[in-house]
Amino acid sequence: MADLISSRSNKLDAVPPSYCIPLHERPVDPVPIAKDIPIVDLGKAKGEERSVVVQQLLKACEEYGFFQVINHGVAEDLMDEAVEVYKDFFSLPVEEKAHYAKEAANNTARGAATLYSSSAKHYDSEDHRYWRDVLEHSCNHDGEDKLNWPDNPPRYREVIGTYSDELRKLSKIILGLVSEGLGLETGYFDKELGQRMLVNHYPACPNPTLTLGIGGHCDVNLITIIQQEVYGLQILNDEKWIGVEPLPHAFVVNSGLPLMVISNGKLTSAAHRVVTNTTRARTSIGTFICPEDVVEPAKSLFGPDNPPLFKSFKWSAEFVPHYLSKKSVYHAALEPFKIDA
Ligand code: OGA
Ligand code: NI
Repeated sequence: MADLISSRSNKLDAVPPSYCIPLHERPVDPVPIAKDIPIVDLGKAKGEERSVVVQQLLKACEEYGFFQVINHGVAEDLMDEAVEVYKDFFSLPVEEKAHYAKEAANNTARGAATLYSSSAKHYDSEDHRYWRDVLEHSCNHDGEDKLNWPDNPPRYREVIGTYSDELRKLSKIILGLVSEGLGLETGYFDKELGQRMLVNHYPACPNPTLTLGIGGHCDVNLITIIQQEVYGLQILNDEKWIGVEPLPHAFVVNSGLPLMVISNGKLTSAAHRVVTNTTRARTSIGTFICPEDVVEPAKSLFGPDNPPLFKSFKWSAEFVPHYLSKKSVYHAALEPFKIDA
């Protein structure tokens, strides 16, 4: 049974040594809540102000690699229900959760869920552990994956089925705006892209200065859409950590490393991390949109005066294994895929 932190944290009054992260990584300095991470009103993208929205979103991806969206079209009730479903899931008895734990999940069926407690960096080192549990599964568009999703809480498949469909639509709207802002050919992202639910649960922690919910990293996928209620997410901007304010019923969106490549370096992918707190468990519902298999700078973004900065590579066969194995810091995961100037 994976050693889930959600199954033991309420019995702990000190952080076990295996969860104490190295000194240089500890979140000891105060971090301000950022007031200037752009908040994009997607409702306006339907009207005369569309070009303003496109420019705002693009600037956010250039300067921060992060923005929040409001008026995004996903019903607030559905967002609330999803939170309840995941809170119920993480409160299930240990024996019930064991069913989904990684060791038990030799289940390679499409959509099969895995539940794991994360350890250092990209999950598979035992050096030290982060203060989070993760439930992860795919959710592809034909609905077949759903047959292998958790069925406890009993409304899981119904609620998360609707949620993932709505989030797919939202991701298409966002990627359409990104594509327009970059000037890519029409329909650049209009493909069936991979979609995964990756839900993080960070229990309250007796000493947040010794731990991290998740260490600093850039995302391996194309874009990530996060629903958060409780503070904890911080991003690295101009070499300083800044906090992302939870706004009720907004989504936080960030660009992953493949979007840096596709945009030929125009857009950034910001490192981010999650801190814990002593009083409230934090559950963040992540929708991870994955790129097509081949990732390369978009052809319309380079030319004789503006050479491509990255080689073309296969995302699942080349990039993901490299990202996972090398434990590269932030943008360094892209090093082997750069074209030397
Ligand atoms: C992630 C991540 C942020 C959060 O899962 O990659 O960065 O707010 N999550 O939990
Ligand atoms: Ni992330």
